[in-house]
Amino acid sequence: NDFVTIIDRKKQGLALSSKQIVLLIRAITDCSASDQQIATFTQAVCQHGMTSTETLALTVAMSQSGENLKWKLNGPVVDKHSTGGVGDFMSLVLAPTLAACGAYVPMITGRSLGHTGGTVDKLESIPGYNSSPSLSQFQQCVKEVGMAIVAQSSNIVPADKRMYAIRDATSTISSVPLIVSSILSKKVAEGLDALVIDLKWGNGAFARHYDVALELKSGIVEVAQAIDLKVECLLSDMSMPISCNVGNSLEIIEVIEFLSGQKRHPQALMLLENLASSLLIKSGLAVDKQQALGMIDTALSSGRAAEQFAKMIHYLGGPSDLVSRPNAYLKDAKVIKPVFAKRSGRISGYNMKHLGEMCRQLSISKNKPTTISRHRTGVSLLLPVGTQVDICVPLCHLHAESHEDWDTQARFLQQHCITVDSGEFTQTHHPIGQ
Ligand code: URA
Repeated sequence: NDFVTIIDRKKQGLALSSKQIVLLIRAITDCSASDQQIATFTQAVCQHGMTSTETLALTVAMSQSGENLKWKLNGPVVDKHSTGGVGDFMSLVLAPTLAACGAYVPMITGRSLGHTGGTVDKLESIPGYNSSPSLSQFQQCVKEVGMAIVAQSSNIVPADKRMYAIRDATSTISSVPLIVSSILSKKVAEGLDALVIDLKWGNGAFARHYDVALELKSGIVEVAQAIDLKVECLLSDMSMPISCNVGNSLEIIEVIEFLSGQKRHPQALMLLENLASSLLIKSGLAVDKQQALGMIDTALSSGRAAEQFAKMIHYLGGPSDLVSRPNAYLKDAKVIKPVFAKRSGRISGYNMKHLGEMCRQLSISKNKPTTISRHRTGVSLLLPVGTQVDICVPLCHLHAESHEDWDTQARFLQQHCITVDSGEFTQTHHPIGQ
């Protein structure tokens, strides 16, 4: 059939026509293509790449595989997307901050992909939260609350929903055309006025090296321009923690502390300011960065951003007092203990991919290893690069649901996730969202 011929062409490294790409996406959407065939296709793209014309055609075809939203609201419709990070809770503080500044944020977000965390998984650690409302509930929530953060539904870009799951299961994630089309197709379907992309690079990102991040950036910008989507890509370093927690409910607690002003990690605040100000300017809500920073500061310090978050959680089925009483709903894991370095010295670096993989191992269900269900697990109190540690100063605390898990993952963490050097240490500069 046509689909087999198209896959075969890609396997030979040949370019596909727009018509072939439309046929392909149709077969993926109506399920006439099997999971195995889709996996073969994504493998062939990982191996041979795609031209910019093919990537554009793939993005457009995917965006048309489901419904496209249209909005009639009293403010601009904006969104942010990350190319995937570890301990990256940014969407959860950014959306309420923007909503408090007068923007509307219909955020369709992903589950954990490979070693990276998923915003939907973090939200699902909140009892009662419905991350898959109907399309009309989602639209109503955006209209009434100013924001909604939900999982991808079968109505919006179903082709990506299917491909995303298959890419995750077949390790075919790190491909520029597949990432560009996956992200932009969803954003086109959201009907946005402006988009900012937090393009992660470094050992915890899919783009491990800066030049790959630049390639991804130009891929995104090229397609976005062709489809007339206002977008800015900011590059940020994912080779060290953004803040100090990795884990679904641990990050929700951090979001609440951040929004309510109890604790704001400076790196996380800087990233939020860069991403939010880009959108406030691009959407016309602020004339320049100075005004945008003032608006962000007011949104946070007045408590309005925290209120927005609380309203959305309640609107989508979560507890009405989550922000005031997080500990009543987000319980501790069974085993929480500090992990110490094997020797004294300074933390000279992190392997964030290994850290993400370790946290995924802690969080997956033992009976169904593809499902993330142990939301209370992860690591907390991670320290900045350069911090002196010794047998009295732990590297972090590890949260597990059994002693066996704790022992296995603590060993892995000491050996593969955090490097401690006794030699001289020079701090390197890590740009945040530039
Ligand atoms: N985020 C997405 O939505 N898709 C990708 O392929 C990678 C990150």
